Amino acid sequence: MAKYKSKFVCQDCGYESPKWMGKCPGCGQWNTMAEEVVSKPSPQVNSQILQQSEPAIAHKITEIDTVAEARTHSGLVEFDRVLGGGVVKGSLVLVGGDPGIGKSTLLLQASNSIAAMGNKVLYVSGEESAKQIKLRADRLDALSDNLYILPETDLERVEQHIKQVSPDFLIVDSIQTVYRPGLQSAPGSVGQVRECTAFLLRIAKSLDIATFIVGHVTKEGAIAGPRMLEHMVDAVLYFEGERHHTYRILRAVKNRFGSTNEIGIFEMREKGLAEVHNPSELFLSERPHGVAGSCVIASMEGTRPVLVEIQALVTPSSYGNPRRMATGLDHHRVSLIMAVLEKRMGLYLQSQDAYVNVAGGVRLDEPAVDLGIALALGSSFREREIQPTDCFIGEVGLTGEVRGVSRIEQRVREAMKLGFTRVIVPTKNLRGWQPPADIQVIGVETVQEAFQVALGG
Ligand code: TYD
Ligand code: MG
Repeated sequence: MAKYKSKFVCQDCGYESPKWMGKCPGCGQWNTMAEEVVSKPSPQVNSQILQQSEPAIAHKITEIDTVAEARTHSGLVEFDRVLGGGVVKGSLVLVGGDPGIGKSTLLLQASNSIAAMGNKVLYVSGEESAKQIKLRADRLDALSDNLYILPETDLERVEQHIKQVSPDFLIVDSIQTVYRPGLQSAPGSVGQVRECTAFLLRIAKSLDIATFIVGHVTKEGAIAGPRMLEHMVDAVLYFEGERHHTYRILRAVKNRFGSTNEIGIFEMREKGLAEVHNPSELFLSERPHGVAGSCVIASMEGTRPVLVEIQALVTPSSYGNPRRMATGLDHHRVSLIMAVLEKRMGLYLQSQDAYVNVAGGVRLDEPAVDLGIALALGSSFREREIQPTDCFIGEVGLTGEVRGVSRIEQRVREAMKLGFTRVIVPTKNLRGWQPPADIQVIGVETVQEAFQVALGG
């Protein structure tokens, strides 16, 4: 077994030590020492793959051939969309998410679909046995001949298999279970995770294999291991969703080959993940009718407009300190809008508890949803229902003004497609744009005006 010389380096101040220490003598921080490889032992046991890579040469930018960046379509439209239009050859992608959210399922389905198109895929699993994976694959109907399953955690052995199989795609599930022999630290430790990623990065780049690494997310939402991992890879995707809801959202938080705004939506079914091509329909499917506190907004998720319901419940507070809760929205934003309503609209919210929820567990972080939040709160407070065929778009400023938003046409068109008959938009957005004739588009300048239109004041 190859033996590496390693050292422990403080991730904060760079202090080096031959052995692990809980507290860094350099900066006094705790738990910052991580193991790093110093040098490789001898040329014989050195990785042959790594030696294959040639030294880089400087090219004129006009002469660089970009055909190498050609993408392979995975067959899963939503997956390709998040990657920026398909899988790039030789790219290293990290897929993060809570345990049990469906990362292995997603990657097995994508692997199968890629393999079915004639590409060789090697799926390395450190978490499940080949049998377990086969059982899952049976259920998902993912039984392509070009899909190879390797239950292995030793990366050096994985390297041997890569040479044997010479796959076009490599999946490593998960980075926390694989290890490089010779390092003292345990699999999943900061040092191992980083060294393993560096190892896979070199394989991906030198052999031009598109590589997907699965990473578990810690409670705080960071991928376990150093944040540095996110800098090493070409793209970081998060697979998220509420455990009790069936749909899942794939989101890019970093992408060297595409936009980070795109999301892919899936639904977890008996037989694996199904793609959701019309998310608005899904998000609005459980909308209640005839009740106050429900309001529909049009939010842009990447290049796609999505209609989502916002619910608010405003009730008299029984304690001195009123409760404020927001799910799926930034609660600071909700507090700010409540303050605007209080000051500009004269709604007496100080003595009220307020709960605001994005139905279905989606997360919205766009200012264009402000007007919807304001209306949902107002509707609940006034106990007046908002017309179920109304949709709201607009950012709310501190003086109660409604500010213009981007891509108004797409949002309005989506509302029209889903049968909404009236959209309330910022007046500013109406300048220089002819709204479609089939839907009533009402421009408002202030929150007061929007309240007047939708709630009668
Ligand atoms: P999994 O892909 O193992 O999650 P991860 O790799 O992120 O830990 O997904 C596990 C969950 O998905 C499990 O709770 C069962 C559910 N599931 C289905 O509902 N249908 C299916 O067809 C499959 C394969 C899994
Ligand atoms: Mg898994």
